[in-house]
Amino acid sequence: MPPEQILKKEDASLDLALRPGRWDDYIGQEKIKRNLRVLIEAARKRKEPIEHVLLYGPAGLGKTTLANLIAKEMGAALKVTSGPAIEKVGDLAAILTNMEEGDMLFIDEAHRLHKVVEEMLYPAMENGTLDIILGKGPSARTLQLQLPRFTIIAATTRAGLLSSPFRSRFGATHRLEFYQKDEIKKIIARSAALLGANLLDEAVDVIADASRFTPRVANRILKRVRDYAQVHDHEPVTRDVAHKALAMMDIDPIGLEATDLRILETIISQYHGGPVGLKTIAASTSEEVETIEDIYEPYLLQIGFLARSMKGRIATKDAYAHLGIPFEAGQNQGTLL
Ligand code: ADE
Repeated sequence: MPPEQILKKEDASLDLALRPGRWDDYIGQEKIKRNLRVLIEAARKRKEPIEHVLLYGPAGLGKTTLANLIAKEMGAALKVTSGPAIEKVGDLAAILTNMEEGDMLFIDEAHRLHKVVEEMLYPAMENGTLDIILGKGPSARTLQLQLPRFTIIAATTRAGLLSSPFRSRFGATHRLEFYQKDEIKKIIARSAALLGANLLDEAVDVIADASRFTPRVANRILKRVRDYAQVHDHEPVTRDVAHKALAMMDIDPIGLEATDLRILETIISQYHGGPVGLKTIAASTSEEVETIEDIYEPYLLQIGFLARSMKGRIATKDAYAHLGIPFEAGQNQGTLL
């Protein structure tokens, strides 16, 4: 496959207009920003590419945006691909041999890289060499290519799934955290201004509460709230209008959607609140294990509705309260509660 086909096309649904194009417009993740700026500044002074960077954490928190900002700050070209897009070692070889001095390669969903591809990356990351095996069997030979100096920025929602030799080849590893409410409010206000939407602060507050502390979710809700307000001629957008728009989207005031509620209800009504294994939850709710782990569970853990134990997931007292189900002492064997 030619590299331009392996390189991921920009996700059309991702609203480029809302993505911060400058460091100063990137709100939150202060510690990571501080560290990255030092890394960048030092590399620039030495006139070297920066070390490889690993960004991990829940989906939608801005890993791709950060990668774009790093490349921009370094004046580097950023090539974009993803773990599952690189099917064969030949695909990776094609990408790497097309890199130029100082280029950056963004690998999204790095936990989904094939093992052989990941292993081919080790020497490339460590000393810029690419080992290509020519032929098969006893006559096989290894051709070693020296690559130009480049930087890999890898992103994953599941750092635990990366092999430790792979992880250890990153010079900087950063975990993105859920945003604080005041940060999400600033992001919504900034996006609203860019979209030309007129929202009262009380409406921004409602959207922030439903945003799962995640900019991607906040921006998605903002756009739907704006649509609703425009159709119903409700500008400036009030708290009430924002609530109505959320209800129409089947999003509850703290950002839970039908699947979140189904997961919690399943644990509570079918498994007495847990502990219950993730695979069992997935089977009972007809969701993929990976979808639950990547999309639903991080926020439910963050707000303390779910707890993890050695024996599985547990619905907490707060989850019962939110669903209006009476919680009896000893319900989930008192584990962790
Ligand atoms: N849009 C998405 N993520 C953002 C962030 N961290 N700051 C500002 N706008 C954003």
